[in-house]
Amino acid sequence: MKLLKNIFLLILLTLFTFPAYSELSVEEIIKGRQAIFSENYKTAKRVQALSSDIEFEAAIELMNKMSENYKNLLDYFPENSKEGFDTEALPTIWENKDEFNALMQKASDDMLTLASVIEDADDIRGTLKTYMWSNCKACHSKFREEH
Ligand code: HEC
Repeated sequence: MKLLKNIFLLILLTLFTFPAYSELSVEEIIKGRQAIFSENYKTAKRVQALSSDIEFEAAIELMNKMSENYKNLLDYFPENSKEGFDTEALPTIWENKDEFNALMQKASDDMLTLASVIEDADDIRGTLKTYMWSNCKACHSKFREEH
């Protein structure tokens, strides 16, 4: 019984000490999200280049990666990360959190749609614009500082 109790306590302890997002410092959160956005920007340019070269397999892999990155970003805007560390995030994010999250989710979903339609697209540039680039602008215009 004592052993069982100890195991139970150990499990509880592990659950509570497992590093959660809330335990990251504000600096780690803000720099973390900026790093993910920068990576997505680089990846988007690769996606554009690969798709133009009809290298769809490699492009689709990167589209899936971008979709996943957007999903992770949903966790990178907690209440305590509104300012500091040169963030360009606008307060409008926290005033319209549902709208912001919906745009992030749409950006993620659109990358998966893009992955499923790109091979058969007649207009590759236009398709990339619709499902990838337009989402950057839609979000930045309302939720990111002029830079
Ligand atoms: C749903 C909202 C949203 C979408 C979609 C989005 N961004 Fe952003 N982006 C932001 C916000 C907010 C910031 C500011 C983050 C900060 O400084 O804390 C940002 C910052 C950036 C940065 C600066 C990162 C740094 O190092 O400071 C780049 C580059 C960027 N975005 C590129 C893109 C590109 C390219 C796309 C589309 C392929 C995109 N973003 C899509 C909201 C978005």
